[in-house]
Amino acid sequence: MTEPIRFLMCPPDHYDVDYVINPWMEGNIHKSSRDRAVEQWRKLHHVLKDHALVDLVNPEKGWPDMVFTANAGLVLGKNVVLSRFHHKERQGEEPHFKKWFEDQGYTVYELPKDLPFEGAGDALLDREGRWLWAGYGFRSELDSHPYLAKWLDIEVLSLRLIDERFYHLDTCFCPLAGGYLLYYPSAFDSYSNRLIEMRVAPEKRIAIEEADAVNFACNAVNVDDVVVMNKVSDSLKQRLKECGFQVVETPLTEFLKAGGAAKCLTLRVTEPVRVEVHSLVSVESRTIRFEGHLLDSGLINRALDLIVDNGGSFQVLNFHLGEQRQSTSSADVKVSAPDHEIMEEIMSQLIDLGALPPPQEICDVNTEPVTIPGVAPDDFYVTTIYPTEVRVHCEWVKVQNQRMDGAIAVNFTQDGPIAKCKLLRDLEIGDHVIVGVEGIRTIRKTESREQRNTQEFSFMGAGVSSERRVELVVEQIAWELRQIRDQGGKVVVTAGPVVIHTGGAEHLSRLIREGYVQALLGGNAIAVHDIEQAMMGTSLGVDMKRGVAVRGGHRHHLKVINTIRRYGNIAKAVEHGVFKTGVMYECVRSNVPFCLAGSIRDDGPLPDTEMDLIKAQQEYARLLQGADMILMLSSMLHSIGVGNMTPAGVKMVCVDINPAVVTKLSDRGSIESIGVVTDVGLFLSLLTKQLDKLTSPYHIAKT
Ligand code: ARG
Repeated sequence: MTEPIRFLMCPPDHYDVDYVINPWMEGNIHKSSRDRAVEQWRKLHHVLKDHALVDLVNPEKGWPDMVFTANAGLVLGKNVVLSRFHHKERQGEEPHFKKWFEDQGYTVYELPKDLPFEGAGDALLDREGRWLWAGYGFRSELDSHPYLAKWLDIEVLSLRLIDERFYHLDTCFCPLAGGYLLYYPSAFDSYSNRLIEMRVAPEKRIAIEEADAVNFACNAVNVDDVVVMNKVSDSLKQRLKECGFQVVETPLTEFLKAGGAAKCLTLRVTEPVRVEVHSLVSVESRTIRFEGHLLDSGLINRALDLIVDNGGSFQVLNFHLGEQRQSTSSADVKVSAPDHEIMEEIMSQLIDLGALPPPQEICDVNTEPVTIPGVAPDDFYVTTIYPTEVRVHCEWVKVQNQRMDGAIAVNFTQDGPIAKCKLLRDLEIGDHVIVGVEGIRTIRKTESREQRNTQEFSFMGAGVSSERRVELVVEQIAWELRQIRDQGGKVVVTAGPVVIHTGGAEHLSRLIREGYVQALLGGNAIAVHDIEQAMMGTSLGVDMKRGVAVRGGHRHHLKVINTIRRYGNIAKAVEHGVFKTGVMYECVRSNVPFCLAGSIRDDGPLPDTEMDLIKAQQEYARLLQGADMILMLSSMLHSIGVGNMTPAGVKMVCVDINPAVVTKLSDRGSIESIGVVTDVGLFLSLLTKQLDKLTSPYHIAKT
């Protein structure tokens, strides 16, 4: 004969809502009626006694939530993992539950201090005993799961809770007999939902709606075909019936005020062990190190948030705080993730932030050979703009041609291993592409404390850029432009047609003429409208002097295109004196190389426009090589393209009237980028004025 089913309950003698530790308790302090609570508890007790044996643990004064025996611990066979409550409000329950378990002859396992786990509230056995579903996110730590697997010798499947109303797994998830599962999918993140769907066949999944979920329909006690719960909608009741279950409703509204219902008020203390199942856990942990102004720069916050936001968890093992203003800190962080895939995702993002692998850990990165030209192996590491190094033969090798969104190919030459960023389309047979995230680090330069705030003054912070703020940033940019020019450096401008429409052409022309620009990148439109203005005085048919649309002006730009086509290209038209001002004119006159990348919406195009986009990208990349500064003037498309090709360390100034564009571009997590939200015509005019004011240090040196 099989052992009878037993539950543990705790009479509500001292039950009350005394504090707030979950959203249900909010506004309910001392609002529950003791009498009604007692009556509701008794009814539940009575219902359960029809189907199982019920043991009682003595209620203790001062521990009002002790009625929720689900949180006493997690039982499997004769073993129990005792709860470690997250909130101090409940920690005092632990010794009382411990005593009860010991008195009953259970072997009690206790988790390390500060590793919360709230028992059967957050860990539910598949009713066939095949595995354990374990929740994390609010009350229980992911790092407790490997202990459960080890001590109870069972496979643990970790599920992440994301809706604080459903803070314990048993509030939104209820395995039922016959392999059924009653659950509220929205309470879980997408990985968890996928895991659930992988383990439970569609016909066995009973997904419920929010209306039932907030009545704690998932907080049900299941004994064979009976399901006991607070309240259920007719439709859910019907579905359960179709699956062979009989629902018994018993109101538990007084306990809902504390965030609990039927299942919370009980703990099943007989859980048969299946001898053939064994410990298995997919939780992974890794230790990484951070160095820098971890607190001042907010780096450590960003790193820790990123871990949690992606479904992982962390433990800070060592934190060494730099004490002087300029001294840096270091931290070793143990990162845990519910499975390998999530770990890789988290690690690749942490590497972007500058996480260092523990020294000497990995001798060689993992690589896989390219088998189809232009196609990387599945799990390839995606590059960032930051200087990257990879482990090859136990040495750090610097990656060449750093850029974003590439793969890293390692090749072995006579001079040793070479690692290079390559675009997918450039991968060749013979390349060994780095896969996974091990043995890779990015080098982030330690920003000085002071620089950080001053440089991050893109103007979005305040919402609107005050004029004075724009002036300040223009002063700084002018000074740097002058420096770069005088030192023979390289400034690349990417510009959109807005530069012309807003009257910026004359200023940009001047910058080119005076040697401040070494290459121009744009599309068909900027050249067309610039030449239109030079030839006809209009830009997109609008008279640039009077600001009004000219009759028939919308055809002007087509005439311009036609004229340039007649001469063969822009340079030839300039040679023939077809137009004598403007941005393109100055480029030709000053031998400033330009590349116009085509797009689907181009009229014409101009003969100079490169409609083969792969060639255009290559030409952009070539012109960008060695740039000291990139001025991005109101062209989202070309500027983002340029941003992706450019390694960190190149100063980028992005000017756009649309804050979203500026944020996207200057948010490279590097201090070199500055965003300015303003009219680009205005910006350029301020910039040339400011340059006029500057005395060239070069000239001073000469006198
Ligand atoms: N007030 C209790 C808490 O917030 C309710 C516990 C409900 N128990 C459960 N297994 N869901 O901890």
